[in-house]
Amino acid sequence: MRTSTKQSVLCTIISPEPPPAHLARSVIEETLRTAILDGRLPAGTPLRQQELATLFGVSRMPVREALRQLEAQSLLRVEMHKGAVVAPLIAEDAVEAYALRIVLESEALRLSIPLLDEDDLAQARHYIEMMEAQTDYAEMGMLNRQFHMSLYAKTHNKRLMALVELGLNEEERFLRFNLSNMGLGKLAQDDHWELLRLAEARDVERTVEVLQVHLNRGVQAITRYLDRRSADTTTTPDKPDNH
Ligand code: NI
Repeated sequence: MRTSTKQSVLCTIISPEPPPAHLARSVIEETLRTAILDGRLPAGTPLRQQELATLFGVSRMPVREALRQLEAQSLLRVEMHKGAVVAPLIAEDAVEAYALRIVLESEALRLSIPLLDEDDLAQARHYIEMMEAQTDYAEMGMLNRQFHMSLYAKTHNKRLMALVELGLNEEERFLRFNLSNMGLGKLAQDDHWELLRLAEARDVERTVEVLQVHLNRGVQAITRYLDRRSADTTTTPDKPDNH
């Protein structure tokens, strides 16, 4: 077996035992997703279909399907002449990413809030309450995404929602590794309660304003944290979330 760096990384994450054929796609998808999320496969790592098929001991078809799923979750992107590579972390262009999220999610709120029913609002409340009780940062990141998505439950523009989800997934991926070090406390829960209260009151424009404050708070916290971290890394090695 060749021993290039990239290949040895893949070797360490892939079990030598081939998965059962009917589970191949989900095993491949789950294996790669976990390794991307925990940083073992850093941004920019190329994922080649044939290489993965060989390492997993499967045909290319389940590999192709798994890569397509990961691309849909914005964990991979397809680059010219390179094929699928692990997508960059939000941190690399956080200011732009959040500016775009404000545009997209403000529109999603305007479309959704007037149509939200009692179940949607109860669901949103449920996610905030679960965040209050949660101490696991990966879970909190997921609940944060689910809460925000619940406010967009009645946005019927599928293309808009695909872009909104992309932004929220990127944020979740970032928070998963960095939240404990960021000092963002309970993910700005006061903002979440306020968003819910205003959505319940159908006050669309105030909800949009609070969302903008909330997302700006997020990007400021990320920027501050990254500045501090890059200052620190000159003296101390960082956790494996770094890349
Ligand atoms: Ni939030």
